[in-house]
Amino acid sequence: MEKQLLSNLDELKPIAAALCEQVQECRIMTFSGNLGAGKTTLIQHICALLGVQEEVASPSFGLVNEYQGEEEQIFHFDLYRLKSVEEALDIGLLEYLDSGSICLIEWPEIAEGLLPEETISVVLAHESEGKRSINW
Ligand SMILES: Nc1ncnc2c1ncn2[C@@H]1O[C@H](COP(=O)(O)OP(=O)(O)OP(=O)(O)O)[C@@H](O)[C@H]1O
Ligand SMILES: [Mg+2]
Repeated sequence: MEKQLLSNLDELKPIAAALCEQVQECRIMTFSGNLGAGKTTLIQHICALLGVQEEVASPSFGLVNEYQGEEEQIFHFDLYRLKSVEEALDIGLLEYLDSGSICLIEWPEIAEGLLPEETISVVLAHESEGKRSINW
């Protein structure tokens, strides 16, 4: 378990680099935390390191975005609007998880029971004095 306290965006870079290395191994990484905690921003940094050139933004409407990295494709989920596990199954989440592609998942709570053991869970939070924390 690692715990990092950040006071500005520049401090996100080494954390993104560490997580980027880890997600290439574990394949599935979840990002939890309150609204605005920094989930999408961290995913943007990780995707940049994976060589994604296109815009990385929260896939609020489609639930999943697909990006082409330098060596492989990446799926970016935002499950915020899902109401049940059935809905997660309907969008084919299991197939994505089984595909071997890197899956980065915001708001994973509803699908927790579907995630494999190797999943790395990253928890982001607002802290006092405008700081943020990232735990994994
Ligand atoms: N480590 C950080 N330091 C300073 N500002 C940050 C950091 N991470 C994110 N931000 C800023 O916080 C705001 C919200 O970030 P972001 O959209 O990544 O949050 P989110 O957790 O994905 O939100 P949502 O719950 O809506 O999906 C953005 O303006 C972003 O620039
Ligand atoms: Mg987001």
